[in-house]
Amino acid sequence: MNNNRAKWGSKLGFILAAAGSAVGLGNIWKFPGKAFEGGGGAFLLMYLLIVPLIGMPAMLSELAVGRASDSNVVDAFRKLGHKGYSWVGWVGWSVAFIITCYYSHVGGWVLRYVFSYATEAHAVYADPLGYFYAMLGYNAAADTTFFPWAAIGFAFLFMAICAFVIIRGVEGGIEKFNKVGMPALLVILLILFVRAATLPGAGDGLRYMLSLDLRKVTPQTFLIALSQAFYSLSLGMAIMITYGSYLSHEENIEKNTFFVCTMDTLVAVVAGFIIIPAVFATLGPDGVGKGGGFAFVSLAGVFEHMAGGVFFGLLFYLLLLFAALTSTVSLIEGIVAFLIERLYWKRTPTTIAVCVLMFCIGCLYTCSQAAFPIKGIWFDFANGVTFPAFCDAMEFLTDRVMIPLCALGCCVFVGWAWKPESAIAEVERCGDKFRFVKAYSFLIKFVAPAAIIVILCVSLFTGTTLS
Ligand code: PHE
Repeated sequence: MNNNRAKWGSKLGFILAAAGSAVGLGNIWKFPGKAFEGGGGAFLLMYLLIVPLIGMPAMLSELAVGRASDSNVVDAFRKLGHKGYSWVGWVGWSVAFIITCYYSHVGGWVLRYVFSYATEAHAVYADPLGYFYAMLGYNAAADTTFFPWAAIGFAFLFMAICAFVIIRGVEGGIEKFNKVGMPALLVILLILFVRAATLPGAGDGLRYMLSLDLRKVTPQTFLIALSQAFYSLSLGMAIMITYGSYLSHEENIEKNTFFVCTMDTLVAVVAGFIIIPAVFATLGPDGVGKGGGFAFVSLAGVFEHMAGGVFFGLLFYLLLLFAALTSTVSLIEGIVAFLIERLYWKRTPTTIAVCVLMFCIGCLYTCSQAAFPIKGIWFDFANGVTFPAFCDAMEFLTDRVMIPLCALGCCVFVGWAWKPESAIAEVERCGDKFRFVKAYSFLIKFVAPAAIIVILCVSLFTGTTLS
């Protein structure tokens, strides 16, 4: 055992950090839009089945691999005696790297909106779409483009905050930061929920989220829910392997997994119950869109038409900011931990170098949104070779290929190479019995890999993004 590796300072510290990683933009920004598209209740039902049946076994496996190997993502597989699976770690490490490049930029936009609501909410209200485009370097009225200073400047600030937390280390930085950020996030979530539920007309949205439209229970909706669950639980990016490796042997992995998954799902569902009813109440069902435009553009209409809108708008973007910060921190830690251990680099310069590099690549992401026609290259069997915008190509690469591949690698590794028995032994190392031995073995060997293979095939053969 490597005694030099950092460990979490307390039980709560780990739980909050893991939940902090899981609860991110995916929960608050992506989930509500998908739940709406997926028919409200139908999507919710599928999601609530997928999390315990596929998400939980997958998370438990990643945490067990991390703790058993006591190692970073790339070396974990070798340390457990299966060098042939190191590629899974490499994919996980790379996907964390690529995602951080753009996740941190979107985090910067969120930071921008915190300032916007604090200082010039009227400007956002006056022209929500124009304001959003202006941040990204596009003047819609004159149809001209310019360098997106606002987006890039705030992304830089966002990255600097994350780097600062990482430099302080696991216990002094990540753990302390999450101990403040996560409770703050929960309090804000609750306040917003009460506000949204009491808006006149919110009942329609609530009813939509609770109604079960069986026509919407389709394979497509199922796959969207499945990819969303993976993304939301921070699986397939080897984050949970890194975080698991900082976990002491007395901790009960089963209970921790249960808690983190429940918390993540709860936040996603509550976010759905905030945003959908609020949009229904103020803009009607047509106001619900998805993607970036949804969080940044449609919601302006919601806050404009609500009593105390500026205040609640500010709270909303603060919520999004905390969620994005704690997730980005977890991504960067996974990247930095590997470099420190493998190359014997020092934490501070490594963090700075990596963050600067990711920030620069992220600039291409932001610039290709609207300001400049920077293209990437893509291939799928349905459309052949295409040249989508650089920002889209980045997301295709991670969402359609790399995340499912890494998640599949982890499941197959635990199910067939390292064997579920080893994971179970690792879980029971704390002295408590693992209660779901049979179910877990079955799910991790057959159900989870099969589901992920379907996602991969659909992405590559039909050219659609499911996450
Ligand atoms: N789970 C995060 C979200 O919901 C995203 C994320 C994935 C963060 C993987 C870290 C690692 O937004």
